[in-house]
Amino acid sequence: MVREWLSVLRLGKHKNNSPEVEDLYKSLDSDKMPVHIAIIMDGNGRWATRRGLPRALGHRAGVESLREIVKTCSSLGVGFLTVYAFSTENWKRPAEEVTTLMDLLVEYLNKELKELHHNNVRVKTIGRIDELPAKARDALEVAAAETSQNTGLTLNLALNYGGRNEITEAVKQIGRDASAGVLNPDDIDENIISKYLYTAGMPDPDLLIRPSGEQRISNFLLWQAAYAEFWYCPVLWPDFRRKHLLEAVIDYQNRQRRFGGLHHSKK
Ligand code: FPP
Repeated sequence: MVREWLSVLRLGKHKNNSPEVEDLYKSLDSDKMPVHIAIIMDGNGRWATRRGLPRALGHRAGVESLREIVKTCSSLGVGFLTVYAFSTENWKRPAEEVTTLMDLLVEYLNKELKELHHNNVRVKTIGRIDELPAKARDALEVAAAETSQNTGLTLNLALNYGGRNEITEAVKQIGRDASAGVLNPDDIDENIISKYLYTAGMPDPDLLIRPSGEQRISNFLLWQAAYAEFWYCPVLWPDFRRKHLLEAVIDYQNRQRRFGGLHHSKK
């Protein structure tokens, strides 16, 4: 009981929380926190268009949501937060928008690195990072190196990421290793395949959140999300706040996960 109250106090230790958010904190079960949350940060463009603003400002506003959600996940004791920041398909957008997104990424990392480090957050990436512009690669490399020893939340940035591409690359590497005799094809199982993905060594996402009213997976964590609980909401990403994350986590905590069996058996 005392332990429970201490963790609730710890979880709710934020300045300027509304009574609604305070109540949400009190409804959390600290023993049933998702280890890995994945988010498709969708709706930046619509948010801007509805206000008569350029799309770039929607993305800029989206960075603010990311900041708040990273801090919240970190304080909740979530282990991994994977955010879909740029997909393999996003290159099809106008060059100007792609540049804006890359610039925002660099700006976010430069401005936030100290704070991330202070909060014991470890920065990692998934996706074809080698194809990103040099300034983005450099900023990511610095952020990953400087935070590599941190033991709190892992902020996993999905950049130039596509689930099918990830699986294709894994299959190619498995084929190469099998031909080279490093891997016996008969030994290939789900665990081995997981080890060839960008997410090797990370647990699968427990909770996958998609704001903005869309209800698609959009090539995100196709293999890893096999048993994730999905949570959708109509709010556009730039309006997504701590309150929405807490609502998603509470909803997740009230679901019964069966992993295809009859009981809550796997966790
Ligand atoms: C989808 O909204 C969002 C993206 C393609 C990019 C997400 C990027 C950010 C939140 C900011 C930059 C990231 C980092 C890591 C600093 P959309 O543009 O498809 O929105 P729409 O569907 O309303 O057009």
